[in-house]
Amino acid sequence: MEQQQDLLKDIISHSKEYGFIFPSSEIYDGLAATYDYGQLGVELKNNIKTYWWKAMVQMHTNIVGIDSSIFMHPTIWKASGHVDAFNDPLIDNKDSKKRYRADVLIEEHIEKIKVKIEKEVDKGKLKFGEAFNEVEFRQTNPNVLRNATKITDIESRFKETLSNDDLEGVRQLIIDLEIACPISGTKNWTDVRQFNLMFSTEMGSVAGEASTIYLRPETAQGIFVNFLNVQKSGRMKIPFGIAQIGKAFRNEIVARQFIFRMREFEQMEMQFFVEPGEEIAWYNNWKIAREKWHKALNLGDANYRFHDHVKLAHYANAACDIEFNFPMGFKELEGIHSRTDFDLKQHETFSGKKLQYFDTNTNKSYVPYVVETSLGLDRMFLSILSASYKNETLEDGSSRIVLTIPPALAPYKVAILPLLKKDGLPEKSREIMKELQFDFSIQYDEKDSIGKRYRRQDAIGTPYAITIDHQSLEDNTVTIRDRDTMEQERVDLSTIRNFLLEKTGWNSLLLNQ
Ligand code: GAP
Repeated sequence: MEQQQDLLKDIISHSKEYGFIFPSSEIYDGLAATYDYGQLGVELKNNIKTYWWKAMVQMHTNIVGIDSSIFMHPTIWKASGHVDAFNDPLIDNKDSKKRYRADVLIEEHIEKIKVKIEKEVDKGKLKFGEAFNEVEFRQTNPNVLRNATKITDIESRFKETLSNDDLEGVRQLIIDLEIACPISGTKNWTDVRQFNLMFSTEMGSVAGEASTIYLRPETAQGIFVNFLNVQKSGRMKIPFGIAQIGKAFRNEIVARQFIFRMREFEQMEMQFFVEPGEEIAWYNNWKIAREKWHKALNLGDANYRFHDHVKLAHYANAACDIEFNFPMGFKELEGIHSRTDFDLKQHETFSGKKLQYFDTNTNKSYVPYVVETSLGLDRMFLSILSASYKNETLEDGSSRIVLTIPPALAPYKVAILPLLKKDGLPEKSREIMKELQFDFSIQYDEKDSIGKRYRRQDAIGTPYAITIDHQSLEDNTVTIRDRDTMEQERVDLSTIRNFLLEKTGWNSLLLNQ
């Protein structure tokens, strides 16, 4: 874990050094948990958005996109339940004066017990060698069983207290589990309080209850309130989906771990409208589809796992997270939720307008059920950096930092490097660049030795580098260097465009989805 935390630190400083991510308002000493994406960050971010949009919208004839506004009628948030129920249970340690989310303290405690179980299993593996039967071991080893029971007990007690809004019960659980503050080390806790996560502001010049509006805490509601607009204007037939990418805002109390949990972040959400009764089948379909989308990036299949929710949100009848193995351990990357007809029905009630689908086959109207896929763009960004950042020792004993970003997502697809800054090589290089820049994002670099320039491209994840030398002037060939293998090949210039299209284009990612 120590090593993993170092990885996060390395990623943070690398991101700043090379222009991926800067702390926001840095010259004013920063603003907690807000970050700015720099010149390379915005390219990577845009590419992630494109990958998602192509897979969700372009590849599905029954999914369309929208871009709704961040400010919406305040009653929307009353209807959605966010005004009354979008709360975090908070607890303060009286000695360190630090504030924590009570649920996170309990979940971290459970995580520690899970680690104990895994250690026990590892011990078993060592002891029994080839003869080790892991399933049987997990079902019979007394230490594993004792710890598994502990987890079940904590989870069911936690679920019960939360669903009964029993905040004293949550506090008692923290005390009974002897959870200590990581800063002060004491168990001197305050009461647990609910804290609403929505940011509010005033619209217009008159302050007061009536003009209070909220910064949206999720993009989904913009989709729900436009459900009929899109269905009618687009003549959409159920099942169909509406996708959206946009900013969301949450006044997170424990905002930390770089861009993992921020107060301003971006979501890529898709609401899929289905016939009532078919939602669980669609929920399972979307679980498979979203897993495929992630795994196509080749960041390592073992880095993903599903976490099925024990405590379902008030609107859901099934829900899970796709978790990613971040430097801080496995954490939520994307949520997939079967949201029933809760949101549309609530908006019908609060707006007084019908939000129903008319089925021309049965001549009946109904409120559709909704399956949503909800991915955090910033977390997606962090997952890519975490899996791509490598500090490699090379055969000659030197080292390099390389970002093995999936080529289609890399900020620059290719670097164009004249071997020398003279003899017509820069002119030839710029000619080549002009031809390729319609199709590819390119970085031109003629400063420093070629070795140093390769390292710079490795550090920003450019998958290919083309070097133009004296031979290029004679026979129109160049060398192309592969970022990951560092191998170079001499090729005819006329082959470069197709080579780059094949290697860095979207096809390889989208082909099997
Ligand atoms: N519409 C459903 C919804 O918003 P969620 O699980 O609260 O569900 C969806 O959020 C995704 O948004 C999460 O899986 C995560 O990737 C991202 N996300 C949520 N809060 C975030 C935060 N404070 N900072 C960065 N990303 C966040």
